[in-house]
Amino acid sequence: MQTFHIKTWGCQMNYADTEKIRYILCSGGYREVSFRENPDLVILNTCSVRQRAEDKVLGLSHAMRSLKNNNPRARVVLTGCMAQRLVRNGCNEHEDAKYTRSLARRLPWVDLVIPIGDRTGWEVMINESIVPESAGDAQVLYDNCPQERSDRIRANVPISKGCNNFCTYCIVPFTRGREVSRSYTAIFNEVTDLVLRQYRLITLLGQNVNSWRGGKDGCSLSFPDLLRAVDQIDGLYWLSFLTSHPKDFSPELVDVLADGRHISPYVNLPVQSGSDTVLARMNRKYTTRDYRKLAENLRKRVPGVRLCTDIIVGFPGETEMEFNETVSFIKKMQFGMIYLAKYSPRPGTAAFSLPDSIPEEEIERRRRIVEDVQSSIMKKRNSARVGSAVQVLMTGHGRGLTFDLTEITIEGGEDEGKGGHSGEVGSFINVVVTEGSAGGLRGMVAV
Ligand code: 5AD
Ligand code: SF4
Repeated sequence: MQTFHIKTWGCQMNYADTEKIRYILCSGGYREVSFRENPDLVILNTCSVRQRAEDKVLGLSHAMRSLKNNNPRARVVLTGCMAQRLVRNGCNEHEDAKYTRSLARRLPWVDLVIPIGDRTGWEVMINESIVPESAGDAQVLYDNCPQERSDRIRANVPISKGCNNFCTYCIVPFTRGREVSRSYTAIFNEVTDLVLRQYRLITLLGQNVNSWRGGKDGCSLSFPDLLRAVDQIDGLYWLSFLTSHPKDFSPELVDVLADGRHISPYVNLPVQSGSDTVLARMNRKYTTRDYRKLAENLRKRVPGVRLCTDIIVGFPGETEMEFNETVSFIKKMQFGMIYLAKYSPRPGTAAFSLPDSIPEEEIERRRRIVEDVQSSIMKKRNSARVGSAVQVLMTGHGRGLTFDLTEITIEGGEDEGKGGHSGEVGSFINVVVTEGSAGGLRGMVAV
């Protein structure tokens, strides 16, 4: 029996793709092993959002060469966003073609490139007849391919792929292509099946879930319709969704959240910058005022909403004043969490050729300032929860999530089996919060 090992970087969408690839390979008779076991097939499911993610793959040269020494049958397959860079010249810019050539030169140990979503490519590879080159209309894509899930209680369900927004810093519209929605029926049936199989946290995934479009019985449906319909499925589960674009987060969606039965009050709403001039240069199509009004509405209508965001510091030309606007915005908004990134120029994107890049030391200085500000906000927010009673979904030994998806450690729960006491993975338990820090919450099982 042939063996495989798969490494994944990047967003939840990549992890969902990995589960599909795992399904295809396991159905084709492959067995998953650790890298140390010198597998016959190593799959690298890669990310191109930041240079650092690509560097991690480029840095595997030594490991891949020694794998091939240890197992002469071993082959390396590249998929994910870096693979898209190699199989099609999605970005028209001159820099991108140059970059693609340099990537190809730096990956001589890659034996095969399989584009994202190309189910036929994997099947052909398993049968070893021809080397697939690119995804095309005639090929079966893995949009509705089952996922061999690695988690027993948490499941991500892709509802769309690609993105049409072209934020000037972002490579995703080039690597994952234009947005395509998955059908209502496929999504609804998959969630129903997951609920039956006792998955407890189901996350609808898309680069921008808010622009999902579908149809049922001749009627056209929007994302709020989909969310409302999925939320009607009976069962013991929480429902969440990732990621939202502020420009498409409609008042109707706020209504659905406010009336939800299973919908978690966790809202991931990337703002990227707190400066209107930077937002315009990023092509985000909203202002800080629009964002603030949306946040106020959410906080008014959805009790306990936990608003989290993404911030990029050091976008080209970001002045000290623009950066300070971001810092004040963060202080004003009191986010539950910030996914903070230093701007990374991506060849082929519009921002790549913008003048006035910010020196690395300055970007790092700005990153640290935002980190410190946010850390004290989180400390304050989390310590304000001490003494409150929360429902917790157990995700591991002594670990769980509150309904707004904040991580919580259950005191004594880590010593499970040695007299410690908490719930089994997948159970919901009642907990009293005993401690809140920047890193999360601690609590005790309520009696
Ligand atoms: N540099 C830094 N961060 C980026 N992101 C996307 N592209 C870049 C880039 N070129 C961040 C954004 C996005 C998240 C997924 O990654 O904040 O919301
Ligand atoms: Fe990238 Fe913007 Fe699309 Fe998000 S919305 S994937 S940041 S282009």
